[in-house]
Amino acid sequence: MTQPAFPALRLRRPRRHGWSRALFAENVLTPADLIWPLFIANGDEVEPIASLPGVSRWPLAQIAARAEEARDAGIPCLALFPNTPRDRRSDDGREALNPDNLMCRAIRTIKDAVPDIGVLTDVALDPYTTHGHDGLVDAEGHVLNDPTKEVLVGQALVQAEAGSDIVAPSDMMDGRVGAIREALEAGGHVDVQIMAYAAKYASAFYGPFRDAVDTRGLLKGDKKGYQMNPANAEEALREVALDLAEGADSVMVKPGLPYLDIVRLVKERFEVPVFAYQVSGEYAMIELAVAAGAADRDAMVLETLMAFKRAGASGVLSYHALHAARLMGA
Ligand code: PBG
Repeated sequence: MTQPAFPALRLRRPRRHGWSRALFAENVLTPADLIWPLFIANGDEVEPIASLPGVSRWPLAQIAARAEEARDAGIPCLALFPNTPRDRRSDDGREALNPDNLMCRAIRTIKDAVPDIGVLTDVALDPYTTHGHDGLVDAEGHVLNDPTKEVLVGQALVQAEAGSDIVAPSDMMDGRVGAIREALEAGGHVDVQIMAYAAKYASAFYGPFRDAVDTRGLLKGDKKGYQMNPANAEEALREVALDLAEGADSVMVKPGLPYLDIVRLVKERFEVPVFAYQVSGEYAMIELAVAAGAADRDAMVLETLMAFKRAGASGVLSYHALHAARLMGA
């Protein structure tokens, strides 16, 4: 496109008034763009998470109230993460397969109380293992792909049976999306969606999350043997292609802001619903900047969320979701 030069073209002209800025906006952010992650406490108390100021683990008795708040603010979907009691964690993470585990009880509680909100559940073994890895490990601490895949299939089925609407494998094992899809179909869960954490990076931004699900002290080594190298973009496209071919309904890029280039690349290449996860370390950066007097929370939250939309995301998982939705509604 050729465009005229100054002064025929004055790009500031439409920026002068609020009504005009609204009219010229290329993207919109609404509460319907948000997924709110919630941590489930294994006791009866609300447990604030020190490294995630403003975020708590919620006891089952209070989880329906959180779901109602989210629905009332226009948020369409919640993402659930259980803090499994330490005495229910094992090398093989078998608690993930218990139909009455904390995750499944939380799903049922929400679906009973607020049936019209979507529930997304994480499929990975880290909240259930004594070593903090997302899968089964061998004697050298290597995470075994194919045996893990079988357990993940069982975990996804248990969640679907409890009423999960979207199972979201965050483990980065190869082949798990196809195996889960096949099992869901065979099990009669044809309408349960899969949101694949397709491009999930081995990131330094997950620290506070690991406090929230109590894996930080347990994790042996790192996750670089299965999560992606932050240096890679081409590989993210191969991951997305693989997960789509195996039946993912949507794909996710994670973390969020440092990987907006990946969101954009995926959107342009595949034209499929792509979600981004503004992860715990990103949330903490904003909150700590606010606490230090260096930032305006409301403006920063809305700007970062809009940045995801601009990059092409269909939606964003964010710990600021409820706050942001309420700001938009105000
Ligand atoms: C683990 C999982 C992680 C997150 C979501 N699912 C952490 C990890 O891979 O160690 C991180 C989310 C966040 O940091 O907010 N399966």
